[in-house]
Amino acid sequence: MGFSITGTTALVTGANRGIGEAVVDALVAAGAAKVYAAARNAADLAPLTARHGTRVVPLQLDVTNAAQISAAVAAASDVQLLVNNAGVAAYAGGAFTDPRWLSAGREEMEVNYFGTFAVTQAFAPILAQNGGGAIANLASVASLANFPLIAAYSASKAATHSLTQAARVMLKAHGTQVSGVYPGPIDTRMAESVPFDKTSPADAAKAIVAGIAAGDEEIFPDAMSQGMGAAYLADPKGLERQIASLAA
Ligand SMILES: NC(=O)c1ccc[n+]([C@@H]2O[C@H](COP(=O)([O-])OP(=O)(O)OC[C@H]3O[C@@H](n4cnc5c(N)ncnc54)[C@H](OP(=O)(O)O)[C@@H]3O)[C@@H](O)[C@H]2O)c1
Repeated sequence: MGFSITGTTALVTGANRGIGEAVVDALVAAGAAKVYAAARNAADLAPLTARHGTRVVPLQLDVTNAAQISAAVAAASDVQLLVNNAGVAAYAGGAFTDPRWLSAGREEMEVNYFGTFAVTQAFAPILAQNGGGAIANLASVASLANFPLIAAYSASKAATHSLTQAARVMLKAHGTQVSGVYPGPIDTRMAESVPFDKTSPADAAKAIVAGIAAGDEEIFPDAMSQGMGAAYLADPKGLERQIASLAA
């Protein structure tokens, strides 16, 4: 089916930097009429509004704050495309018994899973009322098999993947298209210590927007995720073994 970006109204969470900022740029370039750029600190959105003028509308939104989610729904009742991009990677590299996995993992679950869930619940009726629309959730290749270096983050992104599957089924009657996005390493602050080749946020964002337009259920926006995505779809246990051997 697919989702035509031209003339549409979108909302992107975590839009002030990294992949989120680049997705706003890519949506504008693809012909979106209006993009609500949502961020915890709306002042961080100044570069986007300087680039795009009134086509980008700043919105304050911490995805863990219920009152701010309600205010965003009231302010942005014309949204047709929701990109749940906001995310956090709070801890990396501990031994399995390191207690910091638990505190960091709770924060990661709160933002990456419950935040995405809460924003999607709030906007699902808006999308339905505006004709069905589309949702894209930023998961990760680490959703598909656990990367032990980021063990708790991987679990939060597996939860995001599972939520994406639930939304696809449960919002089908509204006519809402639901995509999961499964990037490998993208060159943002989150991945600054990742020792692999990284794709630029601009290239990843173009692939994400193209995937939404094409109606892809799984979007693999970079070379590593294309390889691992194909491996996952062919043989999930094989991908787990491949990542385990990388970790070893
Ligand atoms: N970079 C990668 O290699 C990679 C790979 C796979 C998936 N991803 C996913 O892609 C998404 C974007 O990541 P990125 O690489 O662009 O990371 P980033 O540069 O660290 O940006 C993260 C964004 O999320 C926002 N955010 C964090 N907590 C939030 C909250 N509670 N409410 C609202 N916004 C919040 C941040 O806002 P502040 O500036 O206020 O902190 C920032 O705008 C994330 O979901 C990430 O997990 C990234």
